[in-house]
Amino acid sequence: MVQLRPQILLRGNFLNQLQANVKWSSSLQIRDKKVIQPERSFKCADLSVRLAEPEQLQAKPNVSDLIFGKYFTDHMLKIFYHEALGGWQAPEIVPFENLVLHPASKVLHYAVELFEGLKAYRGVDGKIRIFRPELNMDRMNNSAMRTGLPTFIGEELIKCCCRLISIDQEWVPHSVASALYIRPTLIGIDPTLGVASSESALLYVILSPVGPYFKKADAGISLLADPKYTRAWPGGCGNYKVGSNYGPTIYVQREAVEKGLQQVLWLYGEDNEVTEVGTMNVFMFCVNDDGEKELVTPPLSNGLILPGVTRNSILTLSREWNQFKVSERKFCMDEVCHLLSENRVRLFHFLLHCYNDYRIVLLLLLLFILVVRTIRGRNSLRG
Ligand SMILES: Cc1ncc(COP(=O)(O)O)c(C=O)c1O
Repeated sequence: MVQLRPQILLRGNFLNQLQANVKWSSSLQIRDKKVIQPERSFKCADLSVRLAEPEQLQAKPNVSDLIFGKYFTDHMLKIFYHEALGGWQAPEIVPFENLVLHPASKVLHYAVELFEGLKAYRGVDGKIRIFRPELNMDRMNNSAMRTGLPTFIGEELIKCCCRLISIDQEWVPHSVASALYIRPTLIGIDPTLGVASSESALLYVILSPVGPYFKKADAGISLLADPKYTRAWPGGCGNYKVGSNYGPTIYVQREAVEKGLQQVLWLYGEDNEVTEVGTMNVFMFCVNDDGEKELVTPPLSNGLILPGVTRNSILTLSREWNQFKVSERKFCMDEVCHLLSENRVRLFHFLLHCYNDYRIVLLLLLLFILVVRTIRGRNSLRG
């Protein structure tokens, strides 16, 4: 990816042209738009800005020292919601600061929270671009509905984020291998212990310069595939980006690392259905039983899969290309092992966050052969 990005970014307006061409399936759309009441949303027009004093400004780390989520920019966006005060309050950009929370805040007890992750990239033309933020906003509102937190107009939050990024624009790395990670977060801060929807909430956005997630991804990564663990289940929350999906995965990820593996391949059910890898959607490119080339990814229908923006982009583009069969269908470890034994898996690919160009993702998809060392490991399959 690092080698490919400069070539793509050199092509000026290419990204914008591409964006206009891409159509979206409804998988990321808000299911009930009526839940968002425009008159109740905050508005970017009400945004106030309090800039950091010179002594509050942080030194920027070298691009080569970037570690995911370790460094933060000088400002943040905060928007409070108080039912008793009529709902959303005016958005404010303030110097980056700690939060003060009541010890009974629902987020601290029942994980009443959700978040998003997207990136701003600096093109070689100097322009800063965000990768399809409207889809993250849709997903965020879906998560808010599932969590009993207030919804809002996505476009208004995008406009506030653009202002925040423009204030901290020097934090967008001047490097084709790095980006500014944008982390919108919505937490329930009602200071009461009842398990009920929160009448007060805080939406905040913090920014963090990041480098590549996998330092040596070209060599492929190894996975722990152990059916005794599962990330999500039908009727659960696997298809929402809520914090409670992530905390419990840390133990399993640690086990993977202790075994010398890098990530977890999440399986579900008696037949070891392949669902996701770590915090990534998964694709397999193979030659199927009919001798056709087929790109397969698990379907969104049963709620096991987070509807990734990158996943959606890959599906949309590869269907437009019409060069191989594209399927959203269930596939299980037996099928993966069978295809591997006949050398019919061409690629096993995971999509990590958004890249600023679809073709980067597709080139990656076509060039990036990831070796799944543990897939054949019958031992771990037996648990
Ligand atoms: C569980 C999970 N799956 C998939 C993804 C990829 O989603 P996107 O392509 O929208 O970044 C993420 C994002 O971090 C995730 O947390």
